[in-house]
Amino acid sequence: MTDQTSGLAPAQAGKPILAVNNIEVIYDHVILVLKGVSLTVPEGGIVALLGANGAGKSTTLKAISNLLRSERGEVTKGSIEFEGARIEAQTANELVRRGCIQVMEGRHCFGHLTVEENLMTGAFTRRDGKAAIKRDLDMVYDYFPRLRERRSSQAGYTSGGEQQMTAIGRALMSRPKMILLDEPSMGLAPQLQEEIFEIIRKLNEEQGVSFLLAEQNTSIALRYATYGYILESGRIVMDGAASDLRENADVKEFYLGVGGEGRRSFKNVKHYKRRKRWLA
Ligand SMILES: Nc1ncnc2c1ncn2[C@@H]1O[C@H](COP(=O)(O)OP(=O)(O)O)[C@@H](O)[C@H]1O
Ligand SMILES: [Mg+2]
Repeated sequence: MTDQTSGLAPAQAGKPILAVNNIEVIYDHVILVLKGVSLTVPEGGIVALLGANGAGKSTTLKAISNLLRSERGEVTKGSIEFEGARIEAQTANELVRRGCIQVMEGRHCFGHLTVEENLMTGAFTRRDGKAAIKRDLDMVYDYFPRLRERRSSQAGYTSGGEQQMTAIGRALMSRPKMILLDEPSMGLAPQLQEEIFEIIRKLNEEQGVSFLLAEQNTSIALRYATYGYILESGRIVMDGAASDLRENADVKEFYLGVGGEGRRSFKNVKHYKRRKRWLA
């Protein structure tokens, strides 16, 4: 396991599909939110970006997929590479065409459109014709049988789990090599969270899609990811193989809610001691 006080991304086995190098993000010209964040996702990997509410997970994903501008945010330092090419200057749509797409937090669907119409909006960057798009629609329905049943329902009237599936399915319709998935488990019952993560794993294994998963739910994310980064107040404070993080005493205490009286506040008195242990 490594700490990132050096600002250098640690080595992970395999060729990276995504490399974020020491980025800084500022909102409204003054609010510094990310302070030297580095991470890599190997080709075909599932990597978790963990942290409490407000840690900077969504900001990191939006920095990668170039969705910050509409929020008055800006990457002011560092670099981001997708398949070895710098992407900071690309628009979100160009990036989708290259094969990297974000599924936003809160499963944004078009509520007044049907599930199938929502899925079809995901194909807008494609130029390979109707037959190929139809094939992929069938593939999405094979991965998400619930969506096939609900294809003609208005998305706004489907359940939270079905909306999350629709949001992921729509991303799949762009034929991505990589999906940046923001809080897929949020607001869902444990059974459904598990169902969604199982599908993520299947997409990874069968379609070779790489994933960067932002999650507050450390426990589930570390069971499906191979590697994890922990973000606190805009800095990565720890990273390592998922299996190592799951066994780490600090991660257990502060993020997995075991070994004490349940999950504790990150702002409690042990903060100093914990930080010291992490950086030791
Ligand atoms: N558009 C914005 N303008 C100013 N501050 C923002 C904006 N979006 C997020 N922030 C701030 O950036 C920090 C990180 O937020 P975010 O990336 O959403 O964290 P997370 O996804 O980990 O919950 C928070 O303190 C949040 O208040
Ligand atoms: Mg978020």
